[in-house]
Amino acid sequence: MEEPTGPAAGPATVAPAPLQPLGVVDVADAVPHPTGVAEFDRVLAGGLVPGSVTLLSGPPGVGKSTLALQLAGGTGGSTIYVAAEEAPAQIRRRAIRLGVVADEGLSLGVDTSVAAIVAAIDAHRPGLVIVDSIQTVHDDASDSVPGSVTQVRAAAQRLAAAARARDVAVLLIGHVTKDGQVAGPRTLEHLVDTVVTLDAEAEAELRFLRAIKHRFGPVGELGVFRMQTDGLRAVPDAAGMFLADRPDGVAGSVIVPALDGRRVLVSELQALVGDPGGPATVRLAQGVDRDRLGLVVAVLARTVGLAGEVFCSVAGGNRVDEPGADLALAVALVSAAGGVPVRPGTVVCGELGLVGEVRQVHGIQDRIREAARLGFRRCVVPWGSPQNLDRAGVELIRVADVAHAVQAALGDVSSSLPYRATARAQGPHAVGGRVSPRPTVLVT
Ligand code: TYD
Ligand code: MG
Repeated sequence: MEEPTGPAAGPATVAPAPLQPLGVVDVADAVPHPTGVAEFDRVLAGGLVPGSVTLLSGPPGVGKSTLALQLAGGTGGSTIYVAAEEAPAQIRRRAIRLGVVADEGLSLGVDTSVAAIVAAIDAHRPGLVIVDSIQTVHDDASDSVPGSVTQVRAAAQRLAAAARARDVAVLLIGHVTKDGQVAGPRTLEHLVDTVVTLDAEAEAELRFLRAIKHRFGPVGELGVFRMQTDGLRAVPDAAGMFLADRPDGVAGSVIVPALDGRRVLVSELQALVGDPGGPATVRLAQGVDRDRLGLVVAVLARTVGLAGEVFCSVAGGNRVDEPGADLALAVALVSAAGGVPVRPGTVVCGELGLVGEVRQVHGIQDRIREAARLGFRRCVVPWGSPQNLDRAGVELIRVADVAHAVQAALGDVSSSLPYRATARAQGPHAVGGRVSPRPTVLVT
C-alpha cells in the first residue's frame, strides 16, 4: 500500500511562539491609577490598572451603580459609563445627588451591544469604561439568550480583549443573589484580573468592599462605607463602629479585636448559656462560624465542664469569622455560665487548639494598637506572641491555655461556675488543674 503524500502528511511547520526575556518586560504597565474614591483605591492597592478588567459584584440594591458613578466622577480623566439598566435622566439626577461633577470627561453610553461599546472605545479613547451591568449587555456574535451564562461570558471575554488591546481600564458590574449562587459573576471570576465584592451584612447602611482576587496587589483589604443620601461615604473609624451600644459590666459580653482580611474590627461577642442540665449544645451561632463555636464548646466541656444550651452572637450584626476570635468566644461562654463579667477595659484574642492550648494569631500588633486606640487597657494575648510588640500603653497578659485566659479576663471564677463539681470530676483538665512546665499567665 502506498503511503499518503501531500502537505498533510509531513509535520506542519509552525513559527515558534515569540519569547521575551523576563528582564526586559516593562513593569510600568501595571501601575494603578487612583479613582478618587479612597476606600476603593485602598482595597485595590492604589486604583484601577489600565488594560485590566475589574468585576464589581454584589446583590441587587447594595450600591454598585452608586459606587460606579462615584468612581466615574472621581477619576478626573475621560470615562464612558455604559448604563444599560437605568434611564439617562435617572443617572443624571443621581450624579447631581452624589455631587459627581458632570463635566465633558464623563459620557453616558446607552447602547447595550458589545460591538458598539468597543467601537465607542475606539472613537473616544477613554481611560475608563464602566459597564453597568454585564448581565444586560449582549454580544451579537453569540446567539444565546441575553443574560444567559454563555452571553455574559462572551460579552465579558470580548470586553476584556478590547480593554487589553487598547490599554483601557474596564469595570464590569455584576449582580449576584444573596447566596452568591446565580450564574454570571461567579463564572466570570477567572476571566477578569480583579474581583471586588460589595456587601451589606451588618446594620442597614454599612457596606463592605473586599478584593477577593487581584492580579496587581494583595487581597484582604477591607473598605467600609456608609450609604448616605449623598452616596457611599467612607467610614473614618471603622475599627470601633460596632461598639456603640455596648453594655458595661454584663456577663457574657467580650470584646475581641478581630480581623476582617487585614483590617481590625473591634467587635463584641455575646453568649448565653442555659441550665447546665444537659450536655453542651450549640443552639445559636449568629455571625460566628458554627463549626468553630462547636470546637470552642467542646474544649470548654472538657476543660471546665461547660454544660447546657449555648447561644452566641456578634453584637451589631457583623460577622467575626476567624480563628483569632476563639478565645474570646470561650471567655464569653464561661462569663455567661458563671455570671461573671469581663474585667473592665479588657479585650481577648487568641486561637484555641483542641486540647485547650492558646495559639498565636495573625496581626497581633495591629489588634493591640486598635484596641489601645479605642481606649482598652488590658489585652489577653497568646503566650507565643512576639516579644518585641509595641504595647501601645496596654497591659499585655500572655496566656498559654484557655483556663488561664478565663482567669486573666474574669478573675477567679471557680466559685461562680455552676458545674465546678463536673470540672473536678474530669481530673487534670479542670480549671487550674493543668500541669504546665512554665507559667501560663504572664503580664508585661
Ligand atoms: P444602587 O447603586 O442602585 O444599587 P445596585 O446598583 O447595587 O443595585 O443603590 C441602591 C440603593 O441605594 C437604592 O435603594 C437607594 C440607595 N441610595 C442611597 O441611599 N443614597 C444614594 O445616594 C443613592 C444613589 C442610592
Ligand atoms: Mg445598579
